[in-house]
Amino acid sequence: MSTINYSDKIPNNVNLSEDRTLQRALEQWQPNYLQWWGDMGPDGSQNFDVYLRTAVSVDPQGWAQFGHVKMPDYRWGIFLNPAEQDRKIHFGDHKGEAAWQDVPGEYRANLRRIIVTQGDTEPASVEQQRHLGLTAPSQYDLRNLFQVNVEEGRHLWAMVYLLHKYFGRDGREEGEALLERRSGQENNPRILQAFNEQTPDWLSFFMFTYFTDRDGKFQLCALAESSFDPLARTTKFMLTEEAHHMFVGESGISRVISRTCAAMNELKTDDVTKLRAAGVIDLPTLQRYLNFHFSVTIDLFGADESSNAATFYNTGLKGRFEEGKRNDDHMLKGQTYKVLAVQNGQLVEREVPMLNALNEVLRDDYIKDSIGGVERWNKVIEKAGIPFRLKTPHKAFHRNIGSLSGAKVSPEGRVVSDAEWKANVDNWLPSGADRAFVASLMGRVVEPGMFANWIAPPVMGINRQPVDFEYVRFN
Ligand SMILES: [Fe+2]
Ligand SMILES: [Fe+2]
Repeated sequence: MSTINYSDKIPNNVNLSEDRTLQRALEQWQPNYLQWWGDMGPDGSQNFDVYLRTAVSVDPQGWAQFGHVKMPDYRWGIFLNPAEQDRKIHFGDHKGEAAWQDVPGEYRANLRRIIVTQGDTEPASVEQQRHLGLTAPSQYDLRNLFQVNVEEGRHLWAMVYLLHKYFGRDGREEGEALLERRSGQENNPRILQAFNEQTPDWLSFFMFTYFTDRDGKFQLCALAESSFDPLARTTKFMLTEEAHHMFVGESGISRVISRTCAAMNELKTDDVTKLRAAGVIDLPTLQRYLNFHFSVTIDLFGADESSNAATFYNTGLKGRFEEGKRNDDHMLKGQTYKVLAVQNGQLVEREVPMLNALNEVLRDDYIKDSIGGVERWNKVIEKAGIPFRLKTPHKAFHRNIGSLSGAKVSPEGRVVSDAEWKANVDNWLPSGADRAFVASLMGRVVEPGMFANWIAPPVMGINRQPVDFEYVRFN
């Protein structure tokens, strides 16, 4: 007995209503999902009408429909990008064979692990961000937070769809476990460490959406190359949403910088105490937040040498970023790549088999991409005539995974003693005092068109609405 009209309730392009087994599985999972959303989704927001973008199809008209909705009624849909006819596997040992429409038995465990690990990050970030709505600097920002949250929820749906559809009973159990783990919880934490950190304030949120959602982009890009076609098609569509999350981060930090620079010019000072007294976030504090989020995020790519990474590539489960655009043999056997290690108190490069270094390859692609936005932030500072530049720290700085784990390296890339690290750590990473100061600025601003003092308004509203549009009706 089906009580849910799937084509209505769950917009989809996977013929949900024709797959009874899948329907039943989702019917059981959906109430648990909603329960999770109620418990762990945005705090105190159940009754708000929020101006949200909903995807009702994958074509340009359908994937971004805007309107006010209550978040628990959000239509979390299931979408795959259209199939490419006769798609071929284009890397690894199966190169040239037809892409898989089903899961090959021998790769089942690894594929499930990849999908579960990706799926776990989606609800984790919602949990990390659940208190932020209480201190939103404006309605515009509150709406953006909620947009990111419902889409992370949809990304969880996307992964649970794959688990239910292709992994039978194991998949259903994994789908339940995804709703049971909790970010930061000691006995049942989320799988990856960056997703167990807190996102305590809006500066952290903007840094997180800029840096950590960008990790999401790179992981999704690598999975979009997968030989398992449903995974490739699912992740391709997720990437269209991810772009907005990174925009929220990049523009958010840009607006913080813009407000700070205006205050610096008004008060004709770069004195941190004076700027803090004026209620804006000084640029050195921004740099320390950047150092923290950058370093924690690049750990997400995993150990610099990894036999799993080689296996995932050889077997065609996970490609490189823009695999299809690269001009090599897409097999990589016998090739090498440079990774870093600390030897005799110095950073040295070591050549290792490229297949084992594919985590590092993806991390380096990520680093290149993330530097772009930092340069755009610097343009804002430059335009204000202020001689300060933000910089991504050296990739060996503050690392907790792989051969650099625990090494004491300065943001410039110099190996330092324990004593030097201790003496400088508060200049390199946000101190308790920095976090307390940023927390002190967080107050709720809810009148349409009003913004907290520490952040400039955006240049434009959402979906061509004015900046002072009523993005959230609090009821
Ligand atoms: Fe996501
Ligand atoms: Fe995201």
